[in-house]
Amino acid sequence: MFESFVTVFFLNNQISVVVYRSSKPNRNQFRLLFCLLPNGKYYMLLYLSIDELNEPPVLKVVFNTCLVRSDISDLQCSIGSDSVRTLREGAGKVLKRVLYSVMNAVASRAVGGGASPRTILITGVGRGLGRALALELAKQGHTVVGCSRTQDKLDSLKLELAAATPASPSSTEPNSLSSNKHLLINADITSNNSIEELAHVVMEKNGIPDIVVNNAGAINKNNRIWEVTEEEFDTVISTNVKGIANVLRHFIPLMLPKKQGIIVNMSSGWGRSGAALVAPYCASKWAVEGLTRSVAKELPEGMAIVALNPGVINTDMLVSCFGNSAELYQTPESWASKAATMILNLTVADNGASLTV
Ligand SMILES: NC(=O)c1ccc[n+]([C@@H]2O[C@H](COP(=O)([O-])OP(=O)(O)OC[C@H]3O[C@@H](n4cnc5c(N)ncnc54)[C@H](OP(=O)(O)O)[C@@H]3O)[C@@H](O)[C@H]2O)c1
Repeated sequence: MFESFVTVFFLNNQISVVVYRSSKPNRNQFRLLFCLLPNGKYYMLLYLSIDELNEPPVLKVVFNTCLVRSDISDLQCSIGSDSVRTLREGAGKVLKRVLYSVMNAVASRAVGGGASPRTILITGVGRGLGRALALELAKQGHTVVGCSRTQDKLDSLKLELAAATPASPSSTEPNSLSSNKHLLINADITSNNSIEELAHVVMEKNGIPDIVVNNAGAINKNNRIWEVTEEEFDTVISTNVKGIANVLRHFIPLMLPKKQGIIVNMSSGWGRSGAALVAPYCASKWAVEGLTRSVAKELPEGMAIVALNPGVINTDMLVSCFGNSAELYQTPESWASKAATMILNLTVADNGASLTV
């Protein structure tokens, strides 16, 4: 198998190509991973293969994970057999010409193409990061499936999602109706039964999520480890570690047949370093990192799981550990637009990664 990883920058109508890795070929297949940055804002990964058995050879987009996925999934470009030979020999000029024609086709569809709508499951949508992310994704036209335990927060979020959801251009429905596509469920991630039930309802009403964001979390009150009660320690571990495991147990089997899907496990800076007074929380987030890297090795090709440190954001959780200085940090809303872009652009190439917003 010949594999080349090619970064293609598409800025100000200029395309620059950088080939940064290649290895020895299996003669029949040639794969390229492209990274495209239209408008410098989004990137796009394309997985291409050249089928030499076809005459003329076909450069085919096998899959991509960009914001215009559905628009170009069937894109095919014919290239001459000379090009294939030269590509094998790695001649930059021809490679660039071929990429240019592919990228032109892609870019013309990317402009104004918008994101292909995804269904995104987010745990812990009642407040904080989960709520802000749900609203941002709904605003961008995606379908949100959310859970948390406080009913009045879910009720108010339902109304806010309705207001945030863009009306479909072909629809005369008011937003309140178009937002019925979202699903908010009172579920406790620490309960295996509760998540099993959630998985059934989601399957019935919304189908398999494209992206799962394991966001719900808990932190211990600032205390040294010998001052933390057994009950509080259990709550942190049950929520942050067992809660994610419960979601993975019931949602990964739904995603496996399609061999598609991205899972984001919310980690923390404290999943990569230690800090006094929050040892239970640190322990749980280090566990999230280990869990993520291990599950990454179990998933089939086509799926990915990442650990995501969201940064530092002014939420109830931050107030719990930082006190009044939490207000010096970014709001969940400003965080959510960056996080949404990042999450929507995750690809299989990210499988097992520890990332930071
Ligand atoms: N804020 C930060 O600066 C920061 C930094 C690093 C990492 N993180 C991580 O980011 C994630 C979100 O943090 P946040 O700051 O938004 O926290 P938050 O303000 O405390 O919100 C936590 C959310 O999780 C829900 N939740 C808690 N336990 C749950 C359970 N058992 N089942 C279902 N939902 C549950 C809560 O709703 P209910 O209580 O209504 O269920 C709430 O919606 C967490 O994993 C956190 O560890 C945050």
